[in-house]
Amino acid sequence: MTEHNPTEAIQSYYGQTLQSSEDLKTSACCTLTAMPKHLQVLLADVHPEVSERFYGCGSPLPPALTGCTVLDLGCGSGRDCYVLSRLVGEQGRVIGVDMTAGQLVVATAHLDWHQQRYGYAQGNVEFRLGHIEDLAALGIADNSIDVVVSNCVINLSADKPKVLAEIFRVLKPGGELYFSDVYADRRIPDALRHDPVLLGECLAGAWYWEDFRRMMQALGCPDMRVVSATPITLDDDEVADKIGMVNFRSVTVRAFKLPLEDRCEDFGQIAVYHGAIPNHIHAFALDDHHLFETGKPLRVCGNTADMLALSRYSPYFTLIGNKTTHFGLFDCSPPNLSGLPSNTVAACC
Ligand SMILES: C[S@@+](CC[C@H](N)C(=O)[O-])C[C@H]1O[C@@H](n2cnc3c(N)ncnc32)[C@H](O)[C@@H]1O
Repeated sequence: MTEHNPTEAIQSYYGQTLQSSEDLKTSACCTLTAMPKHLQVLLADVHPEVSERFYGCGSPLPPALTGCTVLDLGCGSGRDCYVLSRLVGEQGRVIGVDMTAGQLVVATAHLDWHQQRYGYAQGNVEFRLGHIEDLAALGIADNSIDVVVSNCVINLSADKPKVLAEIFRVLKPGGELYFSDVYADRRIPDALRHDPVLLGECLAGAWYWEDFRRMMQALGCPDMRVVSATPITLDDDEVADKIGMVNFRSVTVRAFKLPLEDRCEDFGQIAVYHGAIPNHIHAFALDDHHLFETGKPLRVCGNTADMLALSRYSPYFTLIGNKTTHFGLFDCSPPNLSGLPSNTVAACC
């Protein structure tokens, strides 16, 4: 493993150094949040060899996926891809991309096992070896993907703007990016950015939230939403000694490929959730400050209205009003001054 080639360092970390989630030195690459029950049931149906090599930091498994084409960036051994295989159903499709051959060997070894277990006449999962910075090289066309997910991966990329640009290229209009990753409350000092262990543990490359926000804005996505945020603990003393001055959180974000405004504007619109998304009969949480209770009208800003009306969530909502009259700025969320999204979910492990 060499400090000078981050790609090789990461491939070596995930292909050789780590053999299972037990080998991790921090809670950065392990799910901290309790999964909803319906997802736990699906997780129990994933092959143990796949689950043992899960290194994600969240559960980027959004609802309403039936029939969708989902792309998992940095899929590793494929745990999320196999859960997604059930969520999209036999008519849907899941593509997992990873650059570490050793991870994909585990993922592909269990393709038939999952297809048979799920009772599918044809498999709906495929894995492609390659780099998330160049999805075109993997044959992933413009406007071809309904939902892009990723679990604790983009922090590892040396070219994050390229990854985000690729995501917005391949997403269909109205498509959703829904991903969990590691964020820091400050920029990581240069001296630590290439430390192979800190890099592999998803700390050295962690996004500074404000830089992430600026990057998304520059790519034409000025309004992304935090779904949940959980503190990360540094369990290893050596790791804590090196980087313990930084506060890390695992944050799940959703963002849509839509022409949104950079502030929430008030057009007097109202959204009503019908309660028909499977496993979400009582409420649907768009983000950490929009909980749509079934049947209860909620005033929404123009951006939120568009996210609901112009995405795959549209059949599940009635939107009242349009954008013909503007009533000024919409008070959508309390200001966040910490540089990091605040906790929205209690850590359970
Ligand atoms: C922390 S692991 C997460 C794996 C998987 N998402 C999971 O939840 O188990 C990071 C994965 O991203 C992959 N990866 C990192 N950078 C990548 C890149 N630029 N292109 C493709 N894969 C990458 C690594 O090979 C590794 O399998």
